[in-house]
Amino acid sequence: MYGLVNKALQELVEAQHDQETWTRIRERAGVEDLFFLWDKSYDDAVTYRLVEATSAELGRPAHEVLEDFGVYWVLHTAQKSYGPLMKAAGRSLPEFLRYLPRFHDRIVLLFPDLKMPEFEILEEGEDWIALEYRSVREGLQPFVLGLIKGLGRMFETPVEVSLRAGRHSGLDHDEFLVRWPART
Ligand code: HEM
Repeated sequence: MYGLVNKALQELVEAQHDQETWTRIRERAGVEDLFFLWDKSYDDAVTYRLVEATSAELGRPAHEVLEDFGVYWVLHTAQKSYGPLMKAAGRSLPEFLRYLPRFHDRIVLLFPDLKMPEFEILEEGEDWIALEYRSVREGLQPFVLGLIKGLGRMFETPVEVSLRAGRHSGLDHDEFLVRWPART
C-alpha cells in the first residue's frame, strides 16, 4: 500500500503513545524504514506486519488496532491532508456513503498504482444502508468498520455499523449494515 497508509499508522501511535513505542513496533515488525514516503507504493506485507506488531506491542487485538486506525484515518489523515476531497464527497453521513462507490475514482488520480477497495450500495432506506465491500486484500473488515465510525464522528451523527455477511461466511465480498438516527 502507499506509504501514506503506513505513515498514518506511525502518526497514530506517536500521537496516542510516543516515538519510542513506534520504534519498538517498527523493530518488532522488522521494518527498517525510519519514515515512509507518502507517494511510494510499499509491499502490503509491510502494513500487515506493522499492524500485527502494534497489536503485540500495545497488547490489543489486531481488529481493535485496525478499527482505531480507520477512525484515525478519517478524522486526522483524510480531513487534515485531503479536506476539500472529503468535503466534496457529501454534506451528511448518508450523502457521503452514497458517494463512496465513486470516492476512490478520484483518489486514483493522486495515487495511480492504487489497488482500490470497491464499494456498492446494495439496499437502502431512510436511515440505513447495506454496503458491499470488495478488496483484493484480506482481513481489512475492521478497518472499514472504523472508517465508517470515523465518518459518523466527522458528521457528528451517531452511527451503528455491523458486518451482516462476508467472506467469513463464504461470500466473495463483505456486507456492512450502517444505521443512523431517522430524521423526526
Ligand atoms: C481523502 C481521503 C482518502 C484517501 C486519500 C484514501 C487513499 C487510500 C490509499 C492510498 C489507500 C491504499 C491502497 C493502495 O495503496 O493500494 C487506501 C486504502 C483504503 N481505503 Fe481509502 N482513502 C481515503 C478515504 C477513504 C474512505 C472515506 C474510505 C471508506 C469509508 C476508504 C476506504 C479504504 C479501504 C477499505 C482501504 C484498504 C484497501 C483495501 O480494502 O484493499 N478510504 N485509501
